[in-house]
Amino acid sequence: MPQQDPPAMHDLAAPLRVGIVGTGEIARAHLPGWQDLGAELHCVGLQGADEFAREAGATAHGSLEALLAAVDVVDVCTPTPDHPAIVRAALDAGRDVVCEKPLALTGEEALDLVAHAERAGRMLFPAHVVRYFPQYVAAREAVRRGDIGTLAVLRFERTGALPDRPWYADEELSGGIVMDQMIHDLDQALWLAGDAERVYAQQSIAASDGAVRTAHVVLTHRSGALSHCRGFWGPEGTQFRYTFDLAGDAGRLQYDSAADVGIAFDPVASARQAAGDGFLPDVSTMRDPYAAELADFVRARATGAPARVEAADGARAVEVARAALESLRTGRSIAC
Ligand SMILES: NC(=O)c1ccc[n+]([C@@H]2O[C@H](COP(=O)([O-])OP(=O)(O)OC[C@H]3O[C@@H](n4cnc5c(N)ncnc54)[C@H](O)[C@@H]3O)[C@@H](O)[C@H]2O)c1
Repeated sequence: MPQQDPPAMHDLAAPLRVGIVGTGEIARAHLPGWQDLGAELHCVGLQGADEFAREAGATAHGSLEALLAAVDVVDVCTPTPDHPAIVRAALDAGRDVVCEKPLALTGEEALDLVAHAERAGRMLFPAHVVRYFPQYVAAREAVRRGDIGTLAVLRFERTGALPDRPWYADEELSGGIVMDQMIHDLDQALWLAGDAERVYAQQSIAASDGAVRTAHVVLTHRSGALSHCRGFWGPEGTQFRYTFDLAGDAGRLQYDSAADVGIAFDPVASARQAAGDGFLPDVSTMRDPYAAELADFVRARATGAPARVEAADGARAVEVARAALESLRTGRSIAC
């Protein structure tokens, strides 16, 4: 009898079954990445889950329990206050978890989630997507190679419109600009210059428009390097922009997304960047960093090798952001 070719690997492997919890803005940013990975999609949400399911070709479930019974992996995309309970339920059901940043609103709760994942023997992947933006990856490589010598002063800026979902403006729910938006740059500072030991923060809220606010956070790293992070939430229409400026004793490395239209001669690429909604950066001219982070999670889950961002990194970013909030409250520099 003639031998048949063995089936290709992808024929043998069942698609990963992914349950997205919360079907708002960031769930839509994750969608192309899961689709690229060939995932079988499920979702549950308080509002708009049926519409999301139609767009995504996903199965909508009526409860978190029903979704947990149908999937291998849970992707937590709800507003931040709901992260801990959903992460715990997913881990208790034996599922591996991707959770949007911040993992939780307090360091204690974030550390408890890390311990919970360890006890359950499951992965908890905090979705710190900026570690997958090529500009920051290139900066980290340059720093590791020693291109700019020993780091001395790092500056990070992030500007965008205050997201229009009302829970963002409520600091009790979102943690405000430091916990929600600047946490990206706090994580970058820690990733590039190592752990921090002190934090000092200032914030100003526009008298004329409570939605407009600026925060500054200065970290003193254990190495002695200083990081200054500036976050700005502007009114509707504010263009998304991010910059960094890394100074070491052998050189300086700078990046400004406003000066980088991707493909300079392409009017479509330039127009897309200028017309973004201000809530999320335009990623149309780079490898989709949301897709890259999900692919890294899937690779780490399959191989047991570490992912670029681990649960403890997500908890540390929350602890440092929380110390910055304590500095805002007390006006003092806070040990972290
Ligand atoms: N990585 C990034 O760059 C980035 C960008 C934006 C948002 N985020 C984070 O993603 C999370 C979600 O933000 P968003 O902008 O998508 O919010 P959103 O308000 O647009 O969407 C949240 C969705 O969750 C649903 N929901 C609320 N509570 C729920 C619950 N208990 N169970 C199931 N569904 C529930 C809502 O109905 C809504 O569909 C936040 O933690 C935010 O900080 C990360």
